[in-house]
Amino acid sequence: MPPPAADLERLKAELTAEIAAAGDADAIEKIRVAALGRKGTVTELMKTLGALSPDERRVRGALLNALKDEIAALLEARSAGLADRALDARLASESVDVTLPPRPERIGRIHPVSQTMDEVIAILGDIGFAVAEGPDIEDDWYNFTALNIPPDHPARQEHDTFYLPGERESPGGRARMVLRTHTSPVQIRTMMRAKPPLRIIVPGRTYRCDSDATHSPMFHQVEGLAIDETTHMGHLKGCLIEFCRAYFGIEDLPVRFRASYFPFTEPSAEVDIGCTRVGGEFRIGHGDDWLEILGCGMVNPRVLKNCGIDPARYQGFAFGLGLERIAMLKYGIPDLRTFYESDLRWLRHYGFAALAQPGLTGGLNP
Ligand code: DAH
Repeated sequence: MPPPAADLERLKAELTAEIAAAGDADAIEKIRVAALGRKGTVTELMKTLGALSPDERRVRGALLNALKDEIAALLEARSAGLADRALDARLASESVDVTLPPRPERIGRIHPVSQTMDEVIAILGDIGFAVAEGPDIEDDWYNFTALNIPPDHPARQEHDTFYLPGERESPGGRARMVLRTHTSPVQIRTMMRAKPPLRIIVPGRTYRCDSDATHSPMFHQVEGLAIDETTHMGHLKGCLIEFCRAYFGIEDLPVRFRASYFPFTEPSAEVDIGCTRVGGEFRIGHGDDWLEILGCGMVNPRVLKNCGIDPARYQGFAFGLGLERIAMLKYGIPDLRTFYESDLRWLRHYGFAALAQPGLTGGLNP
């Protein structure tokens, strides 16, 4: 290595200090131009090499080239350091603290139908049922025929059911279009699509030509279906007793199964819960009275056969309940029509806070 030249050492010390003090990309660029640019200090020194003897030129030329490379490297490093610092500052200022608790929304309310639906899904989901859906516009094969409802059944008559103009091709041939009168057709759709074991619940809208304080032309039901090789009436009873007690939050709520009839189940039952009648109102719990809340039964073998499931191998149970009805009973809402009047005062009174999501761990209604 040639001996260092004092003037170059001084220049290097100056530039190094300047680079270290540069606070941003502009300052770095200014130093680069002043040192290495066309008229920069280092470049100007290069130009003086021509006047030297060949020996001197070799020594000084090597020193100048080394200086040029060192300054370029220092500029580069400082510039990268500044970019990192700028990124760190941005990350710090733009960071989001995901550990912050959510701020409850004070304005909107959850409608009692949505809340009740979530409660039912939380309870039955915990028992092992998955949510299934089907279309609101059905045809009479899915809605009636496949469910073993005979052609002359009153539910099929014009004045109870919203028929739509037109027919379509259905698994049982041409079928009239209809707004589903219950969620039971989703039993058929599920069994035709998938093989047992099946465990589904179907919350959804249903439609009937009916309107008074306890009937609305559009209302909601939840259907349940469990099919397996050994599913029996004991499972049906255990499951629905558990559901009624969890939903009403009464551990020893009396639950009664009363023999009944549905074309799609055999045997069939209606489920009553214990209550007391005080004036015109019900108080759910122990008492000397009973209140019907849902229908159920063992799936009729004919229904299984209609869906291509072998009734000699599979059996199971089904149930159906009205969502508004159980909401009215639990929350003391006297008139069904008010559910659909969109009256904000009603919603503020009967509605639920946005974050009051039902769950079995936090309680159904925190
Ligand atoms: N679909 C019936 C109705 O709308 C309710 C029902 C009763 C559904 C018994 C069922 C059942 O699955 O097994 O009134």
